[in-house]
Amino acid sequence: MPPLAADQNSHGTTADFIDTLSSFSRLHRAQRWEGTFGEFLANILPGHAVALARTSHEYVWDMLRWHGRAAQPDASENVRARELFKRELFGIDEPLSRVVDYFKAAAAGSDVGRRLLLMLGPPSGGKSTLAILLKRGLEEYSRTDEGALYAIRGNPLNLIPTSLRAEFRDRYGVNISGELSPWARDFVEREFEGDFVRVPVERVFLNEASRIGIGTYAPHDPTTADIADLVGSVDLAKVAQIGDEGDPRAWSWSGAVYAASRGVLEMIEILKVKREFLYLLLTLTQEKNVKVSRFPLIHLDETILAHTNLAEFHKFLQEKENEALLDRMVIIKIPYALSYRDESRIYQKLVSGAPAFRNVHLDPHVLNLAAVFGILTRLGKSEREGLDPPKKLRLYAGEAVEGVPETEVVRLRAETPEEGMTGVSPRFVVNAISNAITRGNTHSLTSMELLLALKDSIESDARMDAKQKKAWIDHLVTARKEFYNRWVKEDVHRAMFASFEEEAQQLLEKYLDEVEASLDHRQVTDPITGESRAADERFLRSVEEKIKVSDSGKMSFRQEVVRKAMVAFKAGERFKLVSHARMREAIEQYLFEERRDVLRLVTSTARPDDDARQKISVVQQRLVSEYGYDEHSAKEALSYVTTLLAQE
Ligand SMILES: Nc1ncnc2c1ncn2[C@@H]1O[C@H](COP(=O)(O)OP(=O)(O)OP(=O)(O)O)[C@@H](O)[C@H]1O
Ligand SMILES: [Mg+2]
Repeated sequence: MPPLAADQNSHGTTADFIDTLSSFSRLHRAQRWEGTFGEFLANILPGHAVALARTSHEYVWDMLRWHGRAAQPDASENVRARELFKRELFGIDEPLSRVVDYFKAAAAGSDVGRRLLLMLGPPSGGKSTLAILLKRGLEEYSRTDEGALYAIRGNPLNLIPTSLRAEFRDRYGVNISGELSPWARDFVEREFEGDFVRVPVERVFLNEASRIGIGTYAPHDPTTADIADLVGSVDLAKVAQIGDEGDPRAWSWSGAVYAASRGVLEMIEILKVKREFLYLLLTLTQEKNVKVSRFPLIHLDETILAHTNLAEFHKFLQEKENEALLDRMVIIKIPYALSYRDESRIYQKLVSGAPAFRNVHLDPHVLNLAAVFGILTRLGKSEREGLDPPKKLRLYAGEAVEGVPETEVVRLRAETPEEGMTGVSPRFVVNAISNAITRGNTHSLTSMELLLALKDSIESDARMDAKQKKAWIDHLVTARKEFYNRWVKEDVHRAMFASFEEEAQQLLEKYLDEVEASLDHRQVTDPITGESRAADERFLRSVEEKIKVSDSGKMSFRQEVVRKAMVAFKAGERFKLVSHARMREAIEQYLFEERRDVLRLVTSTARPDDDARQKISVVQQRLVSEYGYDEHSAKEALSYVTTLLAQE
């Protein structure tokens, strides 16, 4: 079996891929278009005026919807528009939904479009990934018919003189609000004596590498950072040639704000930049222009997507003058995932892409266990009685927890809004795992080894104080006790009893029969003796006690099970254990205890006889062939479970 599940997804043959590449490049060639502005007006514009006059926000919003076109047809617009991000970002649907709402509102002309979008989140929480997805999404979209863009330098429609724009609006139904750049204005005058109809226009494809429609700015040392990186500067060599500093040709138009024109400008670590940069950017979003020396206001239409982390943000907040600036930003929190299942998918993604993990087997619980630890470090304290962190964690992962209805999750989340803004980052966890692999030079990593690796990383982390280290190590203990022990026992137990599933199903059906009898005060007919008797209350309780259903809570528990069974029945399905997490736990536990003695006998004898040895090796093989273990981890799981049993 391949070491990692992700490796199993085949992506088609090489030939298929080459096909895709060549059709991509053919398409790309076919889509090219060049002509004069007059030809553009005659051939391209009719029927597409609205699309061609889109603002950058409208363009981004359309792009998001375009990427969502293959989503579930009955999904809401917001859900569809999130599709692009869902490729790579897991467990942060809420924040994504807010990002999508921002673009929708901005595209509709709402005032939010005049404010800069600032993503605020903990380190390695997916902010850059979101920006990357958006940028790649734009590049892809600009290659489609729907996303076709044309340019001189800037939008060619800006060539239409102000005096003719009203007529243009009447004819094509769209407003042109942009202006030519100083460079383009000069170009039209100089090369075409103002005859703008002859100006060449071409189709452009957004591309970050070529700095077309996508600009990125990352602050380096703030003392040397120069605003010229953003808006350009006088090009002295050209001045020498042209002889006039005020000539647009003598200005270097290489700043990030120009690269981003009509698309997006990603501002990394925005709060680290000098305040003069910030003012410039805020004016740019608000007024759609920048002012540089020697030129009149330069019109620029672009979406600014900025990000920053919490530490920077708090530092920024401390300066009074910054308040007004924050007012002009739309701040969207991008927290860590809070469901361990989503978190585990993140690790899976990171791990399957890393060379260190190639040919390394992870036991089936490694990533989930790491994720449980991760979420535990992120959870806020719940005020509620009886809702300990493990329970909360399970609720957040969509698992049924006794005494708390699923609908409570929303309210719980609202009680601790800062949850997910702190805690361990996916990078920390994945680094810990890969350190363990490289250092141990191992090809197999078990859950227990993972816990040790995490412990090691926590202890050697220089940034953490002793108190936090202790808290995180306690989380490791909780993750092991409350989750791993249960998971591994379940595996070993199932592997020991091959017919487990079938037996468990039978037991479930027996439980249901007895419950129904007890609820209606009916008699049960014994299938063997044919005698009738009252419902077997002792059996029912012995199952329920496995999951700590109290005597006073048993009636509501039973009713709920019967209700779920009825739903399945009405849908013409068999009520299965998989559809009821708690029943499943109870029944597995029941069967488990019933057979515990057998297991003890087999695994704990110091000198197992041949018969016992044979039994162990069958279990081990089954763990390997059916439950995702390899030989090393199967052995360890067996001996671990034996120790657990000895303690019970
Ligand atoms: N919710 C998530 N879903 C999927 N992957 C995630 C998620 N959060 C983080 N990651 C992954 O973790 C890694 C780090 O994320 P990224 O660089 O986007 O974080 P960031 O928020 O920009 O961090 P920083 O503040 O340190 O710049 C990336 O590989 C990213 O794909
Ligand atoms: Mg980043």
